[in-house]
Amino acid sequence: MNTNKIKTHQLFNKAKQYIPYGVNSNFRYWGDEETPIMARGAGAYVWDADDNRYIDYRLGFGPIILGHAYPEVNRRVAEAIQNGVLFAATTPIEIELAERFTRMTGMDKVRLSNTGTEANMHALRIARAYTGREKFVKFEGNYHGNFDYVMFSGPTAKVELLGPRSHPHRLRATEGLPVAIRNYMISLPYNDIEMLERAVVEHSDELAAIVLEPIMGNVACILPDLAWLRRVRELCDEFGIVLIFDEVKTGFRLAKGGAQEYFGVKADLAAYAKAMGNGFPVSAVAGRNEIMAVVEPGRVAHGGTYCGNVVAATAANATLEIIETQSVIESIFANGQRLMDGIRTILRCAGVPHAVTGVPSMFSVLLGKDEPPTDYRSYSEFDGELFGLLGAELIRRGILVDDDPREPWFMSYSHSAAVIDESLNLVEDAVSAVFGRRARRQRLAA
Ligand SMILES: Cc1ncc(COP(=O)(O)O)c(C=O)c1O
Repeated sequence: MNTNKIKTHQLFNKAKQYIPYGVNSNFRYWGDEETPIMARGAGAYVWDADDNRYIDYRLGFGPIILGHAYPEVNRRVAEAIQNGVLFAATTPIEIELAERFTRMTGMDKVRLSNTGTEANMHALRIARAYTGREKFVKFEGNYHGNFDYVMFSGPTAKVELLGPRSHPHRLRATEGLPVAIRNYMISLPYNDIEMLERAVVEHSDELAAIVLEPIMGNVACILPDLAWLRRVRELCDEFGIVLIFDEVKTGFRLAKGGAQEYFGVKADLAAYAKAMGNGFPVSAVAGRNEIMAVVEPGRVAHGGTYCGNVVAATAANATLEIIETQSVIESIFANGQRLMDGIRTILRCAGVPHAVTGVPSMFSVLLGKDEPPTDYRSYSEFDGELFGLLGAELIRRGILVDDDPREPWFMSYSHSAAVIDESLNLVEDAVSAVFGRRARRQRLAA
């Protein structure tokens, strides 16, 4: 593949003059030489500023569920904006969307916003207002967005600083937030029933919510143990705690009804974003009637100038209609399964210890061990640097993945069987480039 990077480097140098690190989100900075500049996308493919083509498995960190520049979604948005985009009033498209959204998710009521961060922020506030309590449980490695209350012990926390498993430290994910707010949060390892039971009993009178990612979408798609997930539900029922699912990555991607349908465990409140708009900025907090009823003028604040704007609502309504009426999820799962299985076979044949974790619509490739991780601490036993080497070879060959194995490979409806075949050939080349070379080096060193 042509890997000319001349324009990319020129543009990136210019970007750095005006934008810190040349990116509008820290997660997009890959280093001065590697940070991509993307020019366009269509279906399963993206092209960088030098017109190098990639099969895209990053999909904008997950939202692109149908494919880039999906014609039907774009057509409807283009048509809608001819009549204006913002009215500081409810529009008919918001009502159509709310009806479809609640039918698909099984939630009673929904309020729109623009980002996953906002949706989680509102969910936590609603849970606090409903229960009259202030604390919440969050799990190590789970990410719920860029607002202060939840920015502790997330997916970038240094495992060696997390402290004893029985008494986890709450590590700040960023400077610039008041340290005292960590006292509102109880941090626990994912998938640990015993610690969960102990913490809930100890703090039962103070707990407003247990918030969780139903698949660890920011740490290698670590799956929930079903017994643990069901126990979380039972404990919430027993102690009057609001169960919040952060479905920002899983919503409309695991099933029409998201992770709740997929795992058969219902949340009281859930935050949605990403796949619901195929890349247009839209999010939602949704939940049971009784809980959402606290969202009332003069009681619990929920709002924003752009909440439910015509672009977002039209894009979401079109995207969800396609997911609801076509075999989007089935197709993604069938093709994703072939990709996961193919990667496993390639790595097994190359003799590389590995675990391919997650589900076919979002999964991760971990190297260095065969047993899948069950929580953030066990994820650290895998060899992230080794995956980085493979990631670089994949990118060089035209497969765009994050070179950090925590971030999933995402699938879209446009990733056809032919795209998967093309991908597997390139994965095979990249694996033999890294592990052939590595095997040679190890032989020479012996
Ligand atoms: C599980 C989860 N929750 C919340 C967020 C925050 O969403 P946003 O970046 O739209 O604010 C993300 C973002 O990646 C996420 O993965």
